[in-house]
Parts: sequence; C-alpha cells; structure tokens
Amino acid sequence: MMENTMLIKCLVGVMCLGASIGIAEELAGYKADNDPRSFIKDPLVLEKVAEWQDLKFGFFVHWGAYSQWGCIESWPLEPYKDRGRSKMPQWKEAGKDIEVFRKNYWALNKTFNPTGFNAQAWADLAEQAGMKYFVFTTKHHDGFAMYDTQFSDYKITAPDCPYSANPKADVTKELFDAFRAKDFMIAAYFSKPDWHHNDFWRKDRPALRRDANYSVVEHPVWWERFVKFTHSQIDELMSNYGDIDILWLDGMWVAEEHKWQDIRMWEIAANSRKKQPGLMVVDRMIHGRYENYLTPEQRIPPVALDYPWETCMTMGNRWSYKPDDEFKSTTTCVHMLVDVVSKGGNFLLNLGASPDGWFHPTAVKQMKEIGAWMDVNGGAIHGSKAIAPYKSGKVAFTQNRDGTVNAIYLAEEGEAMPDTISVEGLGIGKVRKVELLGAGAMKKFKQKKSTLTISIPGAVRNNPPCGHAWTFVLSTSK
Ligand code: GLC
Repeated sequence: MMENTMLIKCLVGVMCLGASIGIAEELAGYKADNDPRSFIKDPLVLEKVAEWQDLKFGFFVHWGAYSQWGCIESWPLEPYKDRGRSKMPQWKEAGKDIEVFRKNYWALNKTFNPTGFNAQAWADLAEQAGMKYFVFTTKHHDGFAMYDTQFSDYKITAPDCPYSANPKADVTKELFDAFRAKDFMIAAYFSKPDWHHNDFWRKDRPALRRDANYSVVEHPVWWERFVKFTHSQIDELMSNYGDIDILWLDGMWVAEEHKWQDIRMWEIAANSRKKQPGLMVVDRMIHGRYENYLTPEQRIPPVALDYPWETCMTMGNRWSYKPDDEFKSTTTCVHMLVDVVSKGGNFLLNLGASPDGWFHPTAVKQMKEIGAWMDVNGGAIHGSKAIAPYKSGKVAFTQNRDGTVNAIYLAEEGEAMPDTISVEGLGIGKVRKVELLGAGAMKKFKQKKSTLTISIPGAVRNNPPCGHAWTFVLSTSK
C-alpha cells in the first residue's frame, strides 16, 4: 500500500508544475481521504471493485448509427462553441443549418445495416489481445439505443432500422453474451443525457447546448418524465441482459450539481443493484457514492494512485470509427498499458466499430500484436499490484501476488535488446533469481546497493521473446 501522504505531496507537486493541470483538476475530488471505496457500504460492491482491479486491461467500443458517416459520435449535434465540428462534410452539406444537419443525422437509423456484425469475432479479438472486461455504448448522447428498449422507437431493433430484421439485431445482447461466455466483466456504457428525447431537448425551442433546453425548475413535469424514462431504460439493461458488472454512466453534466438536472442517482443505483447485486456504478466525474472508480479520459495520471481507477484511451484519434483514422503504434499501446498498470490502474482501450460492424484493419492487426505481447507478458499485468518506485528510467515495475517483482523494460520502437539492463531504485532486498518472461532464467546479474544489472546472453538478444517491452521477474528467494 502506498503512503497516502506521499501521494498527495506528489499530486500537489504535479499541480504546481502546471503541465498536468488538467489531470490535477480532474483528481481534485480524489484526496487520499476521498477514496471511492470509502463511499461504498455494500461488501459485494467492494469485492467486485477488487476483482475488477485485477483485470487490468479492458476493451471499450463506440458504435452507433453515426458510424456510417465516420463522424464523431453524437457531438456534431451540439453546435455550442462549434469545436470545429462545422468543418464536417455533413455540416457543410447542410449549409451549416443545424436543424437540417440534425434531421439528416437523426435519419441515420434508417440506413444502419451492419450485416458483417459478429459478436463472437469481437470477443475473440479482445480475448486474443489479453483483455478481460468489455465496455459497450448501449446508448450515446444522440439517444440511439443499440439494444431493444421498449421506451423509445429510436433503436436498432425498431422496424425503420433495416438491421432490425436481422436475428442479431439486439447487438448489446449478442455482445454481452459473447463476452460473458469468455469470462469478461461486462459494462454497459449509458449516456444520461438523451438529445433525441423530447423531454430533454424540447422540439418547441432551440437546443444549443448539451444540457436540457429548458429550466428544470420551471418545468418539473417534463424533467420528471425524463428521469422516469432514463430509469426505465437503465432498468431494462439491468433486467434483460444477463449479469452486468459495471454501469458506466457518461454525461457528467446531467447531475444534481449541474443546473438541478438531478437524475436521482441513488434511485438508479439502488434499483440496479436489486437486479445486479454487487454492481459497480461509475457516474463519471461526479465524485462520491456513485463513482466507484475514477476514469481519467485520454490521459494517464502522472503519479501512481492508491485507489481504483481506469484510464480510457482511444487507439485511434477518436472514440468513433473513422475510415482514415491514424492509430497509436502497438509499442505505444503496450507502453501505455504498462504505464497505467505500474501506477495501479486499469487500461481501457477503445476502438470505434465500422458501419459494417467490424474494425479498421490496422486496429485489428494491432490488437493481435498487443495480444502476442500479452501472451508472453500477461503474467506481469493481470492481477499485479503497483510497487514503488513505479518507474525508474526505462523500467516500470509491477508486483505479483507471490511477492516477485516484474521489471518491465520499455524498448523504443525497433530497439534491439541491449546486452545489459540496469534496474535502479528498487528496494526489495537481495535478488536471487531473474527470469526473462518467454526466455527463461538469466544467470548473470549483479546487485550493488539499489542497482541491479542484468546481462542478457547473445542467443536471447538475437532472438528476443517479443517486441515492445521485456519483463524480468525478480525473485528474492531461490
Ligand atoms: C468523451 C466524449 C464522449 C465519449 C467519452 C468516452 O467524454 O465526449 O463522446 O463517449 O469520452 O469516455
């Protein structure tokens, strides 16, 4: 266990540096005495959080009718501040008239027909990559349900969506079943805001921002209807889709704290846990009782954190599918995974699924490459814990249950294996055995004060067990 005071000092230090202000702000509600676990009263939830922390590597998929355009998920519907969205070809076609654009966007359900979709193939790919849990966008802010909700016709299973005729139309069910069969933990991403619902964005007035487009205080009836609708939709996910482990709620601006858009989280959590005992609830960015772990987005905290957290990160430049997207290299993905895990977190890697229900060929290739690395090194990732000094130079550390320590050397792209590797600053006593995962015992090593120098034989250097990063398992017993 890390010293909490040290952690806070580090965080304050980082905040002062300025470079990481964003993450420091994001973490501000997470002081050491604000550990999300301290809000959890239910032992089943605590148990599940601990189990989830051991999984380390998850698969996140954004998929919706928007995938057909290869545009950003939902956000182009919100003209506020623009954020460059008007540069989208579809905006231009609509003459930058938001209502014309919305009309076209919202008609995307009428052409969505991902006949190539195969849930089994998704689960196989994620398993091959060494992932252990799955987060799927059951409904994004645009309100299009990727499951068979009874409370809206704007859904993949409605007759006006061509894919509804397909026996696999309830893709959420297909996916959750396929991943569960492989023992993945299952997470339903669900957007609290629903821009398609008339009690959120009323059609009788302009909707210019992500919030409800009316005063919730002045129109409690409309808001109450929306709250009930949201509760009902979540209830369906908790009732009809088998065992769910995580309710991953996005849209932090729909919360009691924000313009009184109180969605009554306590009711959502209580009702959901009646159906799903031990369910983890992640009301993102709303620190407290309903954010059972922290979810820094598109970034990795600069320091190790002594509470449950997960970095969600895109492999490409976007959450949603983009035919000409650029992807982080396999080496970068592996290094990010190691960085997150060495700091005690979980890594949730995202892909956008294509209009046909599969993934970009580069992404598929890289998932397999990550998997090849995990085949050799997964033992240093799954079930591991953080250990100080977390990282030193090019070597990151994790610790196994049996006390052995993994020193993971992060190789540059294409770097050849050096003949010696120095492991600095690890206070674990006398090292008696060193094993390179995938290659076996390293017989020659020297330890002087806190520096361990490992010699790598020529035969191993010429034929390394994998690329990207090499794991040396250090043991203090023979
Ligand atoms: C961001 C995006 C949202 C996406 C989410 C995933 O909040 O705005 O569209 O679903 O990240 O974490």
